[in-house]
Formats: sequence, structure tokens, C-alpha cells
Amino acid sequence: MDIKPQQGKKLGVTVEGFDHTTASESDVEALKQAVYTNKIAVLKGQDLSPQEFHALGKRLGRPEAYYEPMYHHPEISDIFVSSNVPENGKQIGVPKTGKFWHADYQFMPDPFGITLIYPQVIPQKNRGTYFIDMGEAYGKLPDSLKEEAAGTRCWHSVRKYFKIRPHDVYRPISEIIQEVEAKTPAVLHPTTFTHPMTGETVLYISEGFTVGIEDSAGDQLDDDLLQRLFDATGQLDEDLSHENIHLQEFEMGDLLVWDNRSLVHRARHTTTPEPTVSHRVTVHDSCKLYELGD
Ligand SMILES: [Fe+2]
Repeated sequence: MDIKPQQGKKLGVTVEGFDHTTASESDVEALKQAVYTNKIAVLKGQDLSPQEFHALGKRLGRPEAYYEPMYHHPEISDIFVSSNVPENGKQIGVPKTGKFWHADYQFMPDPFGITLIYPQVIPQKNRGTYFIDMGEAYGKLPDSLKEEAAGTRCWHSVRKYFKIRPHDVYRPISEIIQEVEAKTPAVLHPTTFTHPMTGETVLYISEGFTVGIEDSAGDQLDDDLLQRLFDATGQLDEDLSHENIHLQEFEMGDLLVWDNRSLVHRARHTTTPEPTVSHRVTVHDSCKLYELGD
């Protein structure tokens, strides 16, 4: 196994020669450390069936299946399928997922630490995923903004981006909204936490899922503070040209492993609809996302 920094990029490493069937425990640990430290590891030359991809994920942690079954791979429910390519005339998984800044499962009480994406069909143009390292972005905030954020907590919800399911057609929207609020009520997480693996401070907010902010006494704060935090970190940049934004491209055989504590990400805009399919496995590692009492 050979781990090297990505040439000309501000984050990420490439990993040659990782074979999950023969990797030792110390190889797996080294890979995870590379993910925590460098935020993205691109495993090169992977040629895996869905079963093998799932097995690779299990070497890194305990998989969490997505809570909405329409995203599940037909054979392996722990695999989340993003696809606009029907198979035998049938939609598998869900098209156009994640075209907004978010951290995976941020709207849940117990988000996982690691996300793995294994692209299956890659568009010719507009390939890649955008990332912002919210640990680094926090470090660059002006002290006054850090002080304003200190001790606050944020509410997160899937409500803005919940995707209507086939069986929701003809249901009243109010009933669907009620169901979303009952099944996935908004959750509170600290606005900043200490990354348990690296010790850095992470600003845990995203434009897609973060819906409110309150002070340490539980009193709601003006949304303006959230907007200024989104703006300062690059999440409101329509052109996606902010210096904090990293575009991670990939080619067939690449398997991306990233730090879901530090990174927010966003699927790339495509102006022309091109076939694209990717499989995702998400895993809990040896720590909670953050320690309570942080
Ligand atoms: Fe995502």
C-alpha cells in the first residue's frame, strides 16, 4: 500500500495497492489515519462487486444503511445508490442526490465518521464532487465570528431536501411534511466540536441541512449569524470558486473514502443530463462523531 499526497491539490491522498481482502489491521489503521488527516483518500485501481465494496466498507467500520429504503441497492441494503440510469427499465436508487452543501446524516442524532463512494458510471463532463474542509475553514474565520459561534448549537433537518418517494404521489404535501418531521425531527449538534481523531475544531454546519442556531441557554439566535458563517466558509459561493472549495475528480477504478466529520460536500452541477451512477457505503468508526460535553 502506497499513500501519496494528491499532486497540486490542497487536500487528499491517493492510495495505490490497497486490497481489502489482504490488508492487515495496521494497513487499515494507516488508511483511516490518512483519511482523518488528509480528509480524502482515493483508492486507485479498485475492481469490486457490490458485495466486495460492502466488505471493504466493513473493514473500516460498522455500516449504517440509509433510513429511506428507496435508496438501497436491491441486493445489499447497506449500499446507497445514486443513479439516473435505469436497469431493465427500472429505476434503481435515486437520481440527482446531494446537489447542495451537506455532511452525510447531519440531520440524524448519531452521524457516522466515514463515507465511501465508489463511482460506477462516470459522466464525460462535469465529473467530480465539491468539498470544503470545515476544520480548515473554521481556522480561517475572523476571531469575532469564532466568538459569536462559541457555545452555540445548531438545528439540522432533512426537510429542505427530502425527496418525494414514488408512493408520495397524490399525497397531500402537508401529510408528507408531517411524516418527515415525525420520522426525522430536527436534531441539535454543537456548532463546533473537537474532531476526536485529530483534535482540530470543526465548524459543523451546512447550507443544505442546518436550519437554525441557538445560544447555550437554548434561546434562538438570528439566522443572520448562520448566513455569515455559511458565507465566510464558501458555502454561499454560487460560482463554486471560493478558495475553500476543493473539486475532487475521479476516474473509473477510484474509490473515495472521506472524513464525514470535517468535510461538507456537494454533487457537481451538470448542465447536460449525463448518465451517472455511484454506490455509497457509510460507516461508524471507533468514536462518535464528537464527544458529548465538547
Ligand atoms: Fe452526501
